[in-house]
Amino acid sequence: MNNAIFKIFNIIILLVFITSFNLRNMNQNEEKSSSLTQGGYDEVFRPQIHYTPAKNFMNDPNGLIFFEGTYHLYYQYNPEGNVWGNMSWGHATSKDLIHWEEQPVAIRPNELGFIFSGSCVIDKENKAGFGENKLMAIYTSSDQIKQQQSIAYSNDGGQSFINYSGNPVIPNDDENLRDPKVFWHEETKKWIMILAKGILKGVEIYGSENLKEWKHLSTFVIDIPVPDIQWECPDLFQLDYKDSKKWVLLVSVNPRGSFLGSGTMYFLGNFDGQTFTPDPLNYPIWFDYGMDSYAGVTYSNTGDRRILIAWMNNWLYAPEVPVSPWRSAMALPRELKLIEYEGKPILASTVVYEINKIAGPWKKIESQFEPGVAYQIKLSISLDKDSKILLKNNEGERFIFEIKCGTRKLIAYRNAATGKTSFNPKFPVPSLEAPLNVSGDNVILNIFVDQSSIEIITENGSMSMTNLIFPTSIYNSLSVYGVSYKAEMRNLNSIWRKN
Ligand code: FRU
Repeated sequence: MNNAIFKIFNIIILLVFITSFNLRNMNQNEEKSSSLTQGGYDEVFRPQIHYTPAKNFMNDPNGLIFFEGTYHLYYQYNPEGNVWGNMSWGHATSKDLIHWEEQPVAIRPNELGFIFSGSCVIDKENKAGFGENKLMAIYTSSDQIKQQQSIAYSNDGGQSFINYSGNPVIPNDDENLRDPKVFWHEETKKWIMILAKGILKGVEIYGSENLKEWKHLSTFVIDIPVPDIQWECPDLFQLDYKDSKKWVLLVSVNPRGSFLGSGTMYFLGNFDGQTFTPDPLNYPIWFDYGMDSYAGVTYSNTGDRRILIAWMNNWLYAPEVPVSPWRSAMALPRELKLIEYEGKPILASTVVYEINKIAGPWKKIESQFEPGVAYQIKLSISLDKDSKILLKNNEGERFIFEIKCGTRKLIAYRNAATGKTSFNPKFPVPSLEAPLNVSGDNVILNIFVDQSSIEIITENGSMSMTNLIFPTSIYNSLSVYGVSYKAEMRNLNSIWRKN
């Protein structure tokens, strides 16, 4: 009898334990999904048209790939905090490059170290032996001493990855070899991997038939007048130019000089499956002339479109930008093209047309206007005289830029007048200069303003300038001095609300 009571008592205790364990787990799952997808995204300075993780620190975009109808955006992510550390691949997905849904962390640090930047490919023909059409990730395993290259495969459409047991696939014993970008080179029937050489400044090119065994093919080095740089996050791809094609080599460099910090340059030339040979142009040529476009790389598997996403921040002050509980946003996705200017090709970029999905109707504006959470201004300015353009809020904070008609340059002032800047003495900069690269007697600028950023891009993409700003309220007036102009604006709806 006593024994039976004891048994029943034990069963009750076990049931209570199981139920409370399940409840705790359910709560955790609920917490997880609410922090991933249902956060308010309405904190001060929270971008409304740019991707940000709900919380914690993000840097470079990684593994950009269009796979089975979904755009994947992996990124350097610290799941534990709001500054750099514990580097993992965070993950977000989108159907249209504009609305994003945060997903669980896809790859976490392992015995080979942190998971640094890298890329994804689809192994259509099962060359690596993990299965046909496998989504593969190629990343840098980084411990304190070594940067080696590793691969992983996904069995669940990119939600999670399993590391290959033979990692690293490119062993190495120093810390200046990182950020693999891999693509299939049809002519030589090989996977090509390009790697940045960090403070050794250059790019290493490797080839492979199976993603597991890699052979060194060549080294690209070039002497260019940029002081104290390290090379990171390369990309190599082809674009149409006139009746043929050209190869574009993107390299992010940090810093670009004493006050500019992180930036991305590009080379144009030829790649024969082994060696990249640059055209003789006046390098460095910058992809974006603002302070906050770094580590930009392009999507794989998007057919004829070449789409780039860049990290909208700068290592000069990234850990201190005054935002919480997240830190850093991605710049708006851009479509890349080579266009001709003064007889030479330049890499042009415009915001992807999918931005129209969140846009309201165009309205003519004179000076004051009523901004939504974010907006786009289209400003057409005559180039017969110099002009000065001010975007201002009710608090008197302002972002000023000038257009010099003689040199056809845009000079911007991301200085202490723009809003909050005192969090880091390197944030306010004296001036930023960009060539407009337009002919004709006027220039059309598209200006995308969000809660804490401003992206200025010429209509044909010949010049872009991305800057963070931290104004008390979003700018709500436009003044143009010196020239005749036309301006219209349209509101851009928050990507965090279902439109
Ligand atoms: C560039 C970079 C990469 C590296 C990653 C680490 O911003 O330094 O070279 O893989 O960040 O987070």
